[in-house]
Amino acid sequence: MIAYTNDPVGDLLAELKPAYLAATLVAIGAVGVTFAQLLPSIGAAAFELTEEEESAVSAVSNAFDAADWEKEDTEEGTKGYVNRRRQANEAKLAYQEGKSNREVRDSSLRYAETNLDFLAVLLRSVGIQRGQNFVDVGSGCGRTTLGAAALYPTLGKCTGIEFLPELVKMSNSYRGKVKGRKASTDFINGDFTDPVLNAKLFAKADIVFASATYFNKNELEIALEDTLPIGSKVIMVDQRLRGPSFKLVDEVNDAAGDLQLNTGYIYEKVN
Ligand SMILES: C[S@@+](CC[C@H](N)C(=O)[O-])C[C@H]1O[C@@H](n2cnc3c(N)ncnc32)[C@H](O)[C@@H]1O
Repeated sequence: MIAYTNDPVGDLLAELKPAYLAATLVAIGAVGVTFAQLLPSIGAAAFELTEEEESAVSAVSNAFDAADWEKEDTEEGTKGYVNRRRQANEAKLAYQEGKSNREVRDSSLRYAETNLDFLAVLLRSVGIQRGQNFVDVGSGCGRTTLGAAALYPTLGKCTGIEFLPELVKMSNSYRGKVKGRKASTDFINGDFTDPVLNAKLFAKADIVFASATYFNKNELEIALEDTLPIGSKVIMVDQRLRGPSFKLVDEVNDAAGDLQLNTGYIYEKVN
């Protein structure tokens, strides 16, 4: 028999045992508190940039998303970004073709771009001085390398190292499109886990940047351990550096106003 009622919710609650009801209310409360804690980050005002920082960020954004269609926003970022990510994925598949699963780098070759406002704030925290050298490890299409060069035109050299040759080519094509003053840049095609290459790459580096979300664990520590001079800084996004050679000196959360909450960890090489 089907029973009809005027108050189905009330009937359901009456049937529930008080202990279950209390536990459910506590769980709902906990979810609410967690969400409330996230709220200051989600949708919060983006970072406050200085006028110089803003104009450097626009110069790079306009170079990468030059056409009107590229500037259009989607849920995943601008259409220009989505297009670059598609090209990076095609380059990855071309590299992997015909290789066994054991041979290919897969997850570590995933493409993404660092938010340039976030980059500006992260760079503030390392106290950049004139003539210092910046290295972006896994530089993709060169956006972060060119971002550092535009934000700090007095840097000595900004070098990007990237595994996929097609992306190095794209980086070079963007270089001339960034208007205004910028430090000199260089894009190298290579693997940062190659000891011969990284001995040269990091020996003169003062600031190392890595958007390390997808990097294999420990690879960067090993690459930097015997090569990076003491006193140099390392900015890691979304992955910590382990081991006694690296001292955590600062931590910066991305307030870029989207649901992805990135964290920057700033380290100093201490021995
Ligand atoms: C998340 S993307 C970051 C791109 C860039 N740093 C930015 O913020 O716009 C990481 C890049 O690292 C590259 N990569 C991954 N492993 C690498 C390795 N062992 N050597 C050089 N590049 C690598 C990938 O191909 C990818 O383009």
